[in-house]
Amino acid sequence: MINFNSDTATLPSPEMRQAIFEAEMGDDVSGEDPSANRLQEMAAHMLGKEDAVIVSSGTMGNLVASLSHCERGDEMIIGELSHISRGEAGGPSVLGGISMKTLMEDDRGRIDPGEVEAAIHPDNFHYPKTAMVAIENTHNASGGTPLTPEDTKAVADVAHRHELPLHVDGARLFDAAVALETPAAELVKDADSVTFCLSKSLGAPIGSVLCGTHEFVDNARRWRKVLGGGMRQVGVFAAAGIYALENNIDRLAEDHANARRLAQGLAKIPGISIDLDKVHTNLVFFEVTEGDPAELARKLAEKGVRGGSPERKWRFVPHYGITSDDIDHALDVIDSTFRENR
Ligand SMILES: Cc1ncc(COP(=O)(O)O)c(C=O)c1O
Repeated sequence: MINFNSDTATLPSPEMRQAIFEAEMGDDVSGEDPSANRLQEMAAHMLGKEDAVIVSSGTMGNLVASLSHCERGDEMIIGELSHISRGEAGGPSVLGGISMKTLMEDDRGRIDPGEVEAAIHPDNFHYPKTAMVAIENTHNASGGTPLTPEDTKAVADVAHRHELPLHVDGARLFDAAVALETPAAELVKDADSVTFCLSKSLGAPIGSVLCGTHEFVDNARRWRKVLGGGMRQVGVFAAAGIYALENNIDRLAEDHANARRLAQGLAKIPGISIDLDKVHTNLVFFEVTEGDPAELARKLAEKGVRGGSPERKWRFVPHYGITSDDIDHALDVIDSTFRENR
């Protein structure tokens, strides 16, 4: 089975499993898990932040960040197509009483700094208090686009002028770093907090890390506890995270090359429309223009290629465990299936 559903489908390599097997552990709620402590130090260092805290998922990292930066009744400014606004079950509103002012991103996943400025409410009790601005890097819905340090600085400058923190949802931040050949710390140097995921393209089975100042992370630990996210022997997955940070960053270039190879192949298949200029990292979006997408997805899955859906817009994600040979095989299967079902 070649599973293009998401990079969340990655399974740990034998070496990562060995690192998990050998993990040193302790009670992380008391700060006594050596592997968790090491991972947090590594993550903070790699992102150029003072401190870091392990969370169970990207969603929890973003939620903890929102709860740490905002109070009940506050508002955050965020992209309309962002994962926080579209894909996290309204967590900040449900649990924090935080409203979301959404701004439409451009086709590279950027919110306009001028629009951010205009959306910040003046200090007037009629309005919710604007308390945070958030951006996403890479930006999932616009094709895994990597935001440059300048893109981030442009939004951070506006936020900081109004004494607001900037949070980066960097679920795939290391994909941006590899694609732009820029250290991750440089990409987020103007951000006040950053979430990144270990359990997506980096290939670990569980976990994300939230980074920021010591003060922010102390507060984040309290919110993580509130959410029931204070876990115990987290070394069992922190060890996988350490392995991922030490071994799996440079290899993201392979996923990006495979994504391009896949996209170029898809472009030749009748019944598929794809904009090759929109393939930036590991996410390949395309449209099924002919046939019944649900039926095509079912037939492909029967032949071992998963990732289609009943919608016309599909997203295929090459990741660790999918080789360039797998890409070529998948393209053959997709080509024959689409031709048979025209
Ligand atoms: C951009 C982005 N942010 C956050 C998340 C949430 O991560 P998780 O699934 O670990 O909660 C995702 C998940 O796909 C994502 O794509």
